[in-house]
Amino acid sequence: MYELHIADADAFGPAAADLLLGLLPDACLGLPTGHTPLPLYAELRRRGAAAWRLVMLDEYLGEARFQAWLREAIVAPLGIPEERFLPMPAAAAPGACEDFERRLRTWGGCDLQFLGLGANGHIGFNEPGSERDSRTRVVTLTPATARANAGYWPNAPVPEQAVTQGIGTILEARRHCLLVRGAAKAAILAAALRGPVTSAVPASFLQFSPALTVVADSAAAAGLGR
Ligand code: PGA
Repeated sequence: MYELHIADADAFGPAAADLLLGLLPDACLGLPTGHTPLPLYAELRRRGAAAWRLVMLDEYLGEARFQAWLREAIVAPLGIPEERFLPMPAAAAPGACEDFERRLRTWGGCDLQFLGLGANGHIGFNEPGSERDSRTRVVTLTPATARANAGYWPNAPVPEQAVTQGIGTILEARRHCLLVRGAAKAAILAAALRGPVTSAVPASFLQFSPALTVVADSAAAAGLGR
């Protein structure tokens, strides 16, 4: 089961941001990067300073490019101090992923995890084949995902590896919000929400979410029927 909010254009960011209204001021939020959440971050910047704790979802291996992106998009504009920001490690140092999970547990886990949806059904960098019990780990990106993310790497090849919260890690959040925009995501969104739960479509594991809200524009929601 999921709750669907259809919101187009200027309504998309406010619809996603309104999910925060029922949360405590210091709620722990999991945040994705990407094109899709930009209206959410614009709306949060408009609403101003907050006391949230922010947790990263994924990162490239070798260079903390998503961390820099998130700091600019939301961490700095909202004035979130270092001790309330949990970055994803960008290095495969022994124990780094376990340390991230330990710190997330110490924080009590995510109250609300926002997620984008990859064209291939990934959430975070959990590419097809990722299992339900996967944890934070180093993964190899598919060529399609690397191509889709080339914009983050204008002057360099996209790294082949990344670090991501696992499906099992993501599912421990108390609530999830899947953000989806554009007709190109309509078929994969329908597969994720209405198809079988399968590691071939990692987002389908969100059918196990304790509370899933989908915020989609009408183009992305077109395959969901009534
Ligand atoms: P996008 O990326 O929001 O830039 O489309 C989504 C994703 O790959 O998770």
